[in-house]
Amino acid sequence: MLDVGAGAGATTRNLLPLLPASRTHYTYTGVSAVFFGAARERFREYDFLRFRTLDLNDDPVDQGFDLAAYDIVIADCVLHATHDLATTMSRVADLLISPSRLPRARSGAHPARREKAFALLTCTFRLRVWPLRFAWKRSTPATSMPR
Ligand SMILES: C[S@@+](CC[C@H](N)C(=O)[O-])C[C@H]1O[C@@H](n2cnc3c(N)ncnc32)[C@H](O)[C@@H]1O
Repeated sequence: MLDVGAGAGATTRNLLPLLPASRTHYTYTGVSAVFFGAARERFREYDFLRFRTLDLNDDPVDQGFDLAAYDIVIADCVLHATHDLATTMSRVADLLISPSRLPRARSGAHPARREKAFALLTCTFRLRVWPLRFAWKRSTPATSMPR
């Protein structure tokens, strides 16, 4: 799993206790290493945790990350902070082993689903699995991701 923009670990904190330690590789990333010291201490019981810097404004490959290497990407309240959301989503998708198996929100979906997708984008929920494919063609604050 890859946690992008994990910050101080508010989301990570809720997630780690749910993961099977013997089958989990969890990469905790930040745009800088500033939170890593505190996070290492806070999460010291989880020895499957690794810490790496990752700036989503730059290509993850140039930062040493492998493409198609992660089953799950956690991106809670992060992607909106980057310069170009479409590029960021595409980069995040490229890190996933199987993006097509992840949740998808489409134009024409039930309004409640669109609403939920928007909420995902704007951080109302606490746990996110990316990439969602936003393809809202009308009236929504849309973004789209290359297929
Ligand atoms: C609101 S905090 C969310 C932190 C954490 N994901 C959580 O849910 O508790 C936003 C995070 O996005 C990170 N961030 C901002 N720009 C970023 C970038 N270009 N690349 C990676 N992370 C970034 C910030 O450093 C910060 O940790």
